[in-house]
Amino acid sequence: MSDVKARFGRPLRLALVGGGPASWIGRMHRSAALLDGWWELVGGVFSGDPVRSRTAGIELGFAPDRCYPDVDAMIAGETAREDGADAVAIMSPNDTHYPAAAAALDAGLDVIGDKPVSHDFAQACDLVERTRRKGRLFAVVHGYSAYPMTRYARWLVKDGAIGEPRFVQVEYLQGSNATRVEDGPLNRRLEWLFDPARSGLALVMSAIGCHAQHLASVTIGRQVARVAAEVGALVPGRRVVDHVSALLEFEGGVRGTFTATNAAAGAENDVRLRVVGDRGLIEWCHREPSYLRLAMQGEPLRVIGRGDPYLPGEVIAGGRSPRGHPEGMLQAFANIYGEVAQERMARSLGDPLPAFQYPRIEEGAHTMGFIEACLASHERGGWATVAPLPAQ
Ligand SMILES: NC(=O)c1ccc[n+]([C@@H]2O[C@H](COP(=O)([O-])OP(=O)(O)OC[C@H]3O[C@@H](n4cnc5c(N)ncnc54)[C@H](O)[C@@H]3O)[C@@H](O)[C@H]2O)c1
Repeated sequence: MSDVKARFGRPLRLALVGGGPASWIGRMHRSAALLDGWWELVGGVFSGDPVRSRTAGIELGFAPDRCYPDVDAMIAGETAREDGADAVAIMSPNDTHYPAAAAALDAGLDVIGDKPVSHDFAQACDLVERTRRKGRLFAVVHGYSAYPMTRYARWLVKDGAIGEPRFVQVEYLQGSNATRVEDGPLNRRLEWLFDPARSGLALVMSAIGCHAQHLASVTIGRQVARVAAEVGALVPGRRVVDHVSALLEFEGGVRGTFTATNAAAGAENDVRLRVVGDRGLIEWCHREPSYLRLAMQGEPLRVIGRGDPYLPGEVIAGGRSPRGHPEGMLQAFANIYGEVAQERMARSLGDPLPAFQYPRIEEGAHTMGFIEACLASHERGGWATVAPLPAQ
């Protein structure tokens, strides 16, 4: 695949939805797309307000005629150009994800979408079907699963290194909503986040819980089949969900526990994953993302570092600097952008399609089913089944 970029002859062209100058994740997307030269950024819609979209786009350095007032205008403008966008990256407020993605797919564009992919499971299934019908690529930006060492965890489980998976513990603790931020003052971001109609079915799940579930599922290569969840708020009087704890049952009967809260005072973006097999266990923690702990029953603990020369090629390919040099979310995002680009170029060139691990719309849809099952379990009590995805 290494010559695919040369044979394709140009970087792919990416249009953005969201990611104005003040959005930190917008900067992450823009930088990640550019990091390895797979993409060029051509324009976009940078605000829900048409005037601000134009000024924000110009501030970011885009040509004024490609700073569009809304998604429809962007798609009309880009599809009319000979040098129009090949794909759309969506990093706007949650309620805009589904309509923007559906419109891009219908226009024949590939999508790199931030999470949650939609408001609910039905919309997510619709995106799965549109993606398949149109033969497009749809990546979901679950960055944690694109770190080299979480990919190595996945590789180890698949390779049978820890034996049969028995139990998974996953947690994502964050402190951003540990105080009553909703009492104000509210900036634009907090306004949409604290409006459940805009942020989604359960705030903490659209914000961070989705990443934790996704990481657990892909690491053991199994979807969540059933969940018994408690969904609520740790901060007194809060009307949105800031905490979910759950027992999980993955396909094949693997058990798990899940905790996601953004009301954990003192927490940063603390993601932890532990997979226990019948011969040993793996631990990964976002505070030390370049290391993976492998503990085999009766053997000394091994700390494996990103960049260790014996790692599988697909894991080494996810890093860019020697062991010990910090890499993080930017590079993980860039892994997703790079893989989507390579698959897209290969498809255009008629090459065999590479089997990359970037998260796809089916995974985003499973997450929406998981969120709905958590809510159903909480409401009715007991276990709730996670709805299956549309058949191929
Ligand atoms: N993958 C991750 O790790 C990760 C991390 C943080 C945020 N996110 C996701 O990114 C998205 C944005 O989050 P944020 O914290 O940057 O929010 P934000 O409010 O700070 O930024 C949203 C951006 O979108 C623009 N915008 C608003 N309405 C728009 C519209 N209708 N069309 C186009 N642009 C519009 C805003 O001007 C702003 O630039 C959310 O969906 C969130 O879930 C993902």
